[in-house]
Amino acid sequence: MAAVLASALIALCIITSHASCSDPKRVSPNVLRFVTWNPGHPEVWKSIIAEFEKRNPGITVIREFGPSSSTSFHDMLAQKLRNRSPEVDVFFMDVIWVPEFAAAGWADPIDELLPPAEREQFLPGAIAANTCGGRLYGVPLFIDAGMLFYRSDLLRKYGYRPPATWQEMERQGLHIVREEARTGNDICVFSAQFKQYEGLVCVMQEFILGNNGRLFDPETRVPEIQMPAAIEAVRYVREHIIGRLAPRGVLTYQEPESLALFVQGRALFHRNWPYVWEIAGDPRRSRIAGRVGVTYLPRFPGGRSRSTLGGWQLGVSAFSRNRKMALGFIAFLTGAEIQKRFAIEAGRAPSRKELYRDREVLAANPQFKEMKTVFLNASPRPRTPLYPAVSDALQRYFSTALADPDASVEEEAGKAADRIRWIESMMRRSRAQ
Ligand code: GLC
Repeated sequence: MAAVLASALIALCIITSHASCSDPKRVSPNVLRFVTWNPGHPEVWKSIIAEFEKRNPGITVIREFGPSSSTSFHDMLAQKLRNRSPEVDVFFMDVIWVPEFAAAGWADPIDELLPPAEREQFLPGAIAANTCGGRLYGVPLFIDAGMLFYRSDLLRKYGYRPPATWQEMERQGLHIVREEARTGNDICVFSAQFKQYEGLVCVMQEFILGNNGRLFDPETRVPEIQMPAAIEAVRYVREHIIGRLAPRGVLTYQEPESLALFVQGRALFHRNWPYVWEIAGDPRRSRIAGRVGVTYLPRFPGGRSRSTLGGWQLGVSAFSRNRKMALGFIAFLTGAEIQKRFAIEAGRAPSRKELYRDREVLAANPQFKEMKTVFLNASPRPRTPLYPAVSDALQRYFSTALADPDASVEEEAGKAADRIRWIESMMRRSRAQ
């Protein structure tokens, strides 16, 4: 914890300059270095990058792949930026990192890339997430919001409609799983991401919001994880989901593992991001192609269905020596033509509004039409330059509360709230100095 906070504070206050020890020959004016994660649809990315190179003769894009986990990718990228590495021109930025990257001076403001009329073309929440102190630090390539995927064949077989509440999902699921076991079909009710990493914060925020609780007051950033509604939601996950509706193994699952369980036909319901639609429907990658439905996340009785806002932005490193080329690359990737390809070929939810009316996009992703409201109303995580440290405190809390049956949920929530208050006070102090 102290290490995470220390590194976040260093990021916030970096003033000292570090001499880069990179080989200058590796920084060529015709080479654009893009730090990204390993994509779920590598062939789509490969062909899009080849298209950029074809349209920009002489430019070569070199991709450096980081881990696909947001938390690990952050650490790898932050290390490079902290060292002022000129070997990064363009990078992928999770929606939660923008305030940190802006405050640390790692992401260059890129307002000129999106004049006001052009900004209008994007979903407003996605632009707001990239704006800090009135300046734009990234362009959203796609947005994410949590959704419930389900086995449409099995729900139909037992005469159920997609569940509106977690309790309904539980009742339907336990019934279907029991009956299916009699026919030798070994399936569990639910799979999602419960490992200690960023995804856990996303998932737990959805449970808490769906019970009318909150992680924080968005104005004051005062933590509200100790409030009864939040505690009750965490307790529900611990007592009803872990080891009951979902195998205990989900405590080690990120997106890929939880998706594997679903596409292998071993889970009835699955919480994940929109990209699952394309993969689950592809018979080369899924045993359940053609038997999948998608709907809003369940809520608790009296609560509202709420999804966490996620998504990835493209930013330009403040230490890039190829800024002009970097801007051209971002304009290309986030333009309507390429976003449309990402939507159709990789199931990514576009950040441009017009694509939600596009016939071909909707033919590939019919759910986008009805579920656009989920993207428009998705709930952000707290916006703070110290987000990694705040998230670390939340991850530890949720992980302990879910995995350790002897841990007191209230006590763990209290400890995490104390830590978060302390982090915020450190930030105020460092700003005042
Ligand atoms: C997705 C979301 C991102 C989130 C991550 C958590 O990549 O787009 O915002 O932080 O999942 O695993």
